[in-house]
Amino acid sequence: MTTELTLELEDFPTDSPAVGCVDIPQELHDHVVAEMNQLASATGLPWLCVESQGGMVVAKSDEDLLPIFPDSLCDTLLRSNDIVVVEQKSGLVFFGAPLVERADGRIVGVGYALSHPDARPSSMVMAATELNWSAERLNNHLKTLPHCSQSTLECLLRTALSERSKAAREHFLLREIDQLGNQIEQTYEEISLLHTLTGKLQISRSSIDLAESCLERLAGLLRAKGNIIWLEDRRSETRFLPHGDPPFDEFGMAKLIARFETHDWSRPLVKNGVSGTLLGADFPGLKNFTLVSVAEGEHRYGWILSCNLENDREFGTVEASLLSSIATILGTHLRNVDLYHQHDELILSFVRSLVSTLDAKDPYTRGHSERVALIARRIGEEMQLPDEDLQDIYLAGLLHDIGKIGVDDRILQKPGQLTSEEFEKIQEHPMIGYNILAGLKNLQRTLPGVRYHHESYNGKGYPDGLAADEIPLMARILAVADSYDAMGSNRPYREGMPPEKIEEIFRRGAGKQWDPGIIDAYFAASHDILMLCEDYSPTDSIYRPVDIASD
Ligand SMILES: [Fe+2]
Repeated sequence: MTTELTLELEDFPTDSPAVGCVDIPQELHDHVVAEMNQLASATGLPWLCVESQGGMVVAKSDEDLLPIFPDSLCDTLLRSNDIVVVEQKSGLVFFGAPLVERADGRIVGVGYALSHPDARPSSMVMAATELNWSAERLNNHLKTLPHCSQSTLECLLRTALSERSKAAREHFLLREIDQLGNQIEQTYEEISLLHTLTGKLQISRSSIDLAESCLERLAGLLRAKGNIIWLEDRRSETRFLPHGDPPFDEFGMAKLIARFETHDWSRPLVKNGVSGTLLGADFPGLKNFTLVSVAEGEHRYGWILSCNLENDREFGTVEASLLSSIATILGTHLRNVDLYHQHDELILSFVRSLVSTLDAKDPYTRGHSERVALIARRIGEEMQLPDEDLQDIYLAGLLHDIGKIGVDDRILQKPGQLTSEEFEKIQEHPMIGYNILAGLKNLQRTLPGVRYHHESYNGKGYPDGLAADEIPLMARILAVADSYDAMGSNRPYREGMPPEKIEEIFRRGAGKQWDPGIIDAYFAASHDILMLCEDYSPTDSIYRPVDIASD
């Protein structure tokens, strides 16, 4: 507060200040009127709102108030940063207090009271005459004017302004609490979305599934009328996933992206005020949007677009940051899936190389390993095993006889009946295979199938004589698949059996040589297995990695 200012001036007539429209925004006008009315109510004084630059009256708290104040007091009343009270000899006490600060000046509340009940200042009489007031009207007006001394008036004003300032502070704090509450709510929603997303990041999970979860949560979080996730996999297959009501299709999205070819996609692209056209191209219905790239390093996997916020809101850093976080998580996940598939394919080519070495040793059984792998996987599917287990069963099928690499070629290729010594040598192949693969970290999960595929359900198999559930499930499945292909294939010393004969043997051997549950699964899938073997060709590419295009 600055020092109070008290002047002793002669009373004199003055021009009435102009009352009328001043070019201030409606919102500001409403605000100053509210401020003025609050002060009028707190002090019981009539107030005028005057803008300091031109001295124009913006509003009056009392329509009957004569708009008088001396030119010589204008500077004092309108330029001071503090309350001003000036008592004149005529009995008029002018007061002023700044209401609102603006870049081009301020709006000040000013007014006057009478210092004693008998005061009848000539300036008021003249102003009333100019307005054609009757003497009676003027007398009535003078009666309504409050009477107070300069010190009382100043005290009153300071108390009222102090209350107003406390109320304003309270209002400001409440608004800030409100904003913080909204921010916390928004942040919580964001964290919750990112948490949900990261919880779903299993390699085996379809990226489409993940993207659809993102879209649903995004719609609720951003309140955008349209959201799109557009993904492209490593085989250049695209998936366009719109949600809500985006104003364009895949073609429109491609057109939009092409417009910003030179944009630095490490940052989100935010555009407001689009109004249906952008860089000379038409995008009907597009008002605003944020577009981010789904990428990991130099590998791009697609785009996320959010457009047309509800209630004509504009996109800002909060929305852009949320979309960027989602794009980063999706991009990293897709890159991991990519690397996982590459790793998977590498293992598969290595396994195929091993199997081709075995096929070269015993051309008569060529294709046996691959058919066993396919049959075992089909039985596993019938048993509704998870994808990961099916992949392990498939690899174990390819490798189940790999130990035959260590068996003498003459025994393997002997056309006639084997001697018991030769049979003992053959029986070593599960353990030889197990020992070959035991040192290969990536093939550890195939070991139970390789080692135990010649075990019998009744415990009379080899090499360990395990029975029933002691035999790993993978090995019990491989035992059925291996027997089916072995019995059905031609050998130098016998013809392959027809399926009916094999199935008769399966029925009799269920619960003895083979697990009855797996024999049941075989019968449920027998038609598919027959087709699979009839259609089989060693040159077929039978490995189908799961890609983002798979649902
Ligand atoms: Fe075998």
